[in-house]
Amino acid sequence: MTIAPVQRTATTAWTDARLILALEEVVETELNRHLKAAKEWMPHEYVPWSRGRDFDGVLGGEAWSLDQSKVTPLARISLVVNLLTEDNLPSYHHEIASMFGREGAWGTWVHRWTAEEGRHGIAIRDYLLATRAVDPVELERARMAHMSEGFESDNAHSMLQSVAYVAFQELATRIAHRNTGHHSGDELCDQLLAKIANDENLHMVFYRNLLKAALEIAPDQAMRAVADVVLNFRMPGHGMPGFERSAAQIAIGGIYNLRIHHDDVLQPVLRHLKVMEITGLGPVGQHAQDELGAFLDGLNAQATRFDERQAALLARRAAAAAARA
Ligand SMILES: [Fe+2]
Ligand SMILES: [Fe+2]
Repeated sequence: MTIAPVQRTATTAWTDARLILALEEVVETELNRHLKAAKEWMPHEYVPWSRGRDFDGVLGGEAWSLDQSKVTPLARISLVVNLLTEDNLPSYHHEIASMFGREGAWGTWVHRWTAEEGRHGIAIRDYLLATRAVDPVELERARMAHMSEGFESDNAHSMLQSVAYVAFQELATRIAHRNTGHHSGDELCDQLLAKIANDENLHMVFYRNLLKAALEIAPDQAMRAVADVVLNFRMPGHGMPGFERSAAQIAIGGIYNLRIHHDDVLQPVLRHLKVMEITGLGPVGQHAQDELGAFLDGLNAQATRFDERQAALLARRAAAAAARA
């Protein structure tokens, strides 16, 4: 008796349109799971309004100055990066609505996700202005500059790459918010960012589960998409004014860096999906999996070199601070 080989749909047959149709049922299941898991929360309850007062200008209040907030300098930088990233929501909405469509379960998810993300920008801005944590004029000018540039995803040409990207990016955003809160020096800031991070985690779970289904129905193409995204990953805020400088400080300060990216973002998603253990791939998927494995080894080594540089720099800073004291 001969055993017939497993018939797999040819890689080329999986167009974006076919994948969107094939994943519709998974989207519906994941959407329902998400709606059950997501608890309603009120952004206004997390903002210490009693710390707020009128600003100078139209209302003739008190001008902003640096000493008005106890938020740490590192958290101030990170809060602005996180907020400007959230602010570009209209561009993200455009990207996913164009990619996933506005019909059926996909459309319901796109709109629901957009509404949840909108809450993040509102809450962080309210917190920053009520507590006078950042210069409101600089913040508004940065928002105008950043949003005027718009945002174009690196993955807009591929549905699978878009799904793979957001699975990692939502987790990256979760970690960035969470660590910003930990470094903020203000427990109310920490509390707010923990709440937002919880939303980002639920978003990650949605996209990760979708990616799992994609790896099952189109393994070669999905593996290629995962490898492409991991090899070329950039945070969505990369286009904002002063991003490189802010990102360097955020890295040294331990909010988001190569080590965190490798250990807390890439590896948990890849391990959960057992990406490196998938067998029976065709040549395209196999090549992508090999490339991914080699890249992760290299990234881990790079992260170790970063750890060493970070430790040396922090030791020098501590010694300089001790000498000044
Ligand atoms: Fe968000
Ligand atoms: Fe999110």
